[in-house]
Amino acid sequence: MKAFFRPLCGIYVHWPYCLSKCPYCDFASRVCKNPDYDALLKGYERDILIFKEKMPHPPLITSLYFGGGTPSLMPILFFDSFMTLLQKNFSFAPDIEISLEANPDAVTQEKMRDFKQAGVNRLSIGVQALNESDLRFLGRRHSLARALDCVHEAQNVFDNLNIDLIYARPNQTLSDWEKELKEALSLNLPHYSLYQLTIEENTVFGKKGILSATEETAVALYELTNELMRTHHVPDYEISNYARAGFECRHNLTYWHYADYLGLGPSAQGRIAGFETVNPRTPADWLAKGPSLTKLTPLETAQERVIMGLRLKNSGFPCSQLAQSGIQKACENGWGYVSDNLFYPTKSGFLMLNQLILLVAPDSIPTEQ
Ligand SMILES: C[S@@+](CC[C@H](N)C(=O)[O-])C[C@H]1O[C@@H](n2cnc3c(N)ncnc32)[C@H](O)[C@@H]1O
Ligand code: SF4
Repeated sequence: MKAFFRPLCGIYVHWPYCLSKCPYCDFASRVCKNPDYDALLKGYERDILIFKEKMPHPPLITSLYFGGGTPSLMPILFFDSFMTLLQKNFSFAPDIEISLEANPDAVTQEKMRDFKQAGVNRLSIGVQALNESDLRFLGRRHSLARALDCVHEAQNVFDNLNIDLIYARPNQTLSDWEKELKEALSLNLPHYSLYQLTIEENTVFGKKGILSATEETAVALYELTNELMRTHHVPDYEISNYARAGFECRHNLTYWHYADYLGLGPSAQGRIAGFETVNPRTPADWLAKGPSLTKLTPLETAQERVIMGLRLKNSGFPCSQLAQSGIQKACENGWGYVSDNLFYPTKSGFLMLNQLILLVAPDSIPTEQ
């Protein structure tokens, strides 16, 4: 019998609605109390069929990630129909990771159990800050008490659990953040996503001219974060992601290992069979126009692989796929080193990642891939 090739693949589903818009957030999310669920499900189905047609081999889905927006707002009956749609179209790996983002004010323990029953096995809670005044500053709807209750409720339901926190807030001192991070660590979770606040032009913060921490403070905060996480056995495996051994998010690793993934829903992007897929940002445009697909050139593919691959800690990148002159300069700058024909960024390399990528990304197609 002929061997049957199934490429491993992740799926990202974007849910575009929230209960309110946070002033720092530039994700494709908007407030809508009564979305047209039937139209949305049809839109997701259309994306699936378009992408499936481009894939020469039926993939095996190893991870599924519901992000947003606030996907924990999805009514459970809708979520069930979504899962049925996905399972009708794809084969799921027996150990598939299914993550869902939840906001403390937009999920109950009962709903967590419903999601688990429907297949979710990893919950990611957007806590953002562990003090009341910064929760207010960040425009969050939930109190500190509700965020902590939500984490405890989730611990009763899920083993695989993440919280998101945003640091490098204006005027945040090292000792403020150390106190907060220690409190986060006392929750004893297997995974933490710790993002430095970025100010995007289009957001309320951007328009008000709010500034995040200075570069010097941001570097010091990042180093403190890595050190504290490492000593508590939750080391970094990527710039903003920290996990106990075995709890690294498989879906994130799909991106960084540059494996194929489908992006379904407004603003979602994907990579399938050498195509880059981009969906329109607003729900109305997405429903009306659908995805656009662009064939990537071999050079673009090689450059993107570098952009994604260099983010990962502890896994060297093949020198043969990088610009040789760039490697030399990066090593001279102290941004990286070479061992066994693999290039590894150093701590300063990670702090200067964008410049490092510009330096080492190939400007012609590498001969060896
Ligand atoms: C796609 S958002 C959705 C999460 C969820 N709706 C929530 O708010 O809890 C995922 C995460 O990105 C992070 N994030 C969003 N905007 C950010 C910004 N401007 N700077 C840093 N992190 C940001 C937050 O930690 C957030 O939890
Ligand atoms: S941070 Fe989360 S809840 Fe706030 S607007 Fe963005 S996606 Fe919505």
